[in-house]
Amino acid sequence: MTTWNLSGVNSHILICNGSSCMRKGGEEVTEAIRREIAELNLDSRIHTTRTRCNGRCKDACIVIEYPEGTWYKEMTPELGRRLARNHIESDQGLHDSVLYSYEDSQYVQISSESEKGKDKPIKVGG
Ligand code: FES
Repeated sequence: MTTWNLSGVNSHILICNGSSCMRKGGEEVTEAIRREIAELNLDSRIHTTRTRCNGRCKDACIVIEYPEGTWYKEMTPELGRRLARNHIESDQGLHDSVLYSYEDSQYVQISSESEKGKDKPIKVGG
């Protein structure tokens, strides 16, 4: 068990470690992102978390970054390293990897190549 002091952190990267993403290199992506963060001395600014399935298995491996709320698809170790480097050198050429961006208080699908997916059920009542 670990309890980190997260004061001063300005980015949270969620790395999908669900079964589909793990079959598409999720472990290697996780290790590459974490290694790059350490090598760039960004541990005090970027927090990473392994997650279970995020519900976009066809786009594996999924990585999500907050507070931007950007979802990245088909991540590889190299793309993961670029995501970490984005914190010190902007524009690491990740545009083609963006699946969703958060705009006007909702997710907007950016990637036209990715399947739209099933509509979320409409919740009735409270
Ligand atoms: S296992 Fe990663 S989105 Fe489903």
